[in-house]
Amino acid sequence: MRPLSRRSALILGGAGAAAAATGAAGLFWDQGSGFQADGGLDLSEPQALHSADGRLQVKLSAALGQVRIAGRDADALSYNGSLPGPTLFLRPGDRVNVTLENRLGDPTNLHVHGLHVSPQGNSDNVLVSVEPGTSFDYEYRLPADHPPGVYWYHPHRHGSVADQIFGGLYGAIIVQDSQPVPVSRERVLVISDISLTGGGSIATVSAMEKMMGREGTLVLVNGQLNPVLAARPGERERWRIINACTSRYLKLRLDGQHLQLLGLDSGRYQSPRDVDEVLLAPGNRADLLVTTAAGTAVLRTLPVDRGGTGSMMGSTGGGQSRPGPDGTVLATLAVAGEPAAAPEPVPAQPAPRDLRAAPVTARRDLVFAMGMGMNSGGMGGGMGSGMMSFTINGRPFHPARIDTTVPAGAVEEWTLRNTSPMDHPVHLHVWPMQIIEQDGQPVDSPLWQDVVNVPARSSVRVRIAFDDFTGKTVYHCHILDHEDSGMMGLIEAR
Ligand code: C2O
Ligand code: CU
Ligand code: CU
Repeated sequence: MRPLSRRSALILGGAGAAAAATGAAGLFWDQGSGFQADGGLDLSEPQALHSADGRLQVKLSAALGQVRIAGRDADALSYNGSLPGPTLFLRPGDRVNVTLENRLGDPTNLHVHGLHVSPQGNSDNVLVSVEPGTSFDYEYRLPADHPPGVYWYHPHRHGSVADQIFGGLYGAIIVQDSQPVPVSRERVLVISDISLTGGGSIATVSAMEKMMGREGTLVLVNGQLNPVLAARPGERERWRIINACTSRYLKLRLDGQHLQLLGLDSGRYQSPRDVDEVLLAPGNRADLLVTTAAGTAVLRTLPVDRGGTGSMMGSTGGGQSRPGPDGTVLATLAVAGEPAAAPEPVPAQPAPRDLRAAPVTARRDLVFAMGMGMNSGGMGGGMGSGMMSFTINGRPFHPARIDTTVPAGAVEEWTLRNTSPMDHPVHLHVWPMQIIEQDGQPVDSPLWQDVVNVPARSSVRVRIAFDDFTGKTVYHCHILDHEDSGMMGLIEAR
């Protein structure tokens, strides 16, 4: 595939905006690939599966086949034939059984991103490999005090994580609140990107795009292009937004509407925070309240400068699409009709845990680095192939090497250092991270996330409480091309 042109993204964004203005459905032509997309249809949501009496049993069948994308038939990957896969609605204390059936041509597995569950055995074990033609029974037991919030599931087979997520394998997980937040309606919005050929199959991705972290030409909401959401003025909606893009950062705006953030990832603020903009690195989730005002508002993602390969490659950007200053249209909120009665107040959330005053049992440095072709004989040898190494503390991932051992119950302080010219969103499984300091500046309130962006040539300090579980799991860059290229480490709590 030739590199994505700047033009194709602009045209697509422009077409979306035009449809938004008229509220009509329309055909869009992705000039880069020739794929014809259909946008401006009513928002559809993934199938909802709710646990009952503390149990949920689900079968997820991963396959390549015909699936509806952007209003057209495409040939992509999906769970159970739909993109995104079903949404799992859970409660603290639940036991969840997932049978993963692998009907792909390659090995896969399943990760429940952000859930605080055991990484061992047939729980959230990313070292499991489910071979083609076989299935695997996962069982997750959520602790009784599991935090409510927005989570998600996706494959985690090292080496093909980016390809499988980009191809369409992801779904939402919602852990419900014990005390519901009064809203007119809740919506799950899974934002993903993909590039399709004119014939509707998944476009191939160049080595240069992988180095940058691939970004798809189509940015989808629940598999749709610029879907329309309808509401009445004065309603309070709750949007659970997942950034399921392989590498794309989302800087979300919905001008003209009142936005309040309940929290990011599994973290909750004590009371909702007014925001104009929500920045989601790949893997991050937002729990957002939207209080509607009459009119038509466009949900868009503005361009984010996440760096480039810099002088290392003698160029920047790597041929990625760069949207215009107005960004890319994601969805249209059409607010009209009789005003709704004022919503009940949002109940106060429990005070988040704060590790800033906690005794720290160990301190570590994790250095995220990119270098020239170390695997192919150093500077000279690596240049020709254009391959770059992605390492943590100088080493690429190896499944047989434990990089970090922590005693169960430890409270550790990690300095995440990025020496490269590109941002890396750092993710740790099982245990969330409290951000203590960003680029030398202390953070003045408890801020918990499980994906923490570490900007180019900068550092972030976090604290982690290794509670409740032991076993082996991973931390990695959530630009999944970087993860597949080795920017991942193995950690064991014991
Ligand atoms: Cu969402 Cu290890 O990843
Ligand atoms: Cu994860
Ligand atoms: Cu990265």
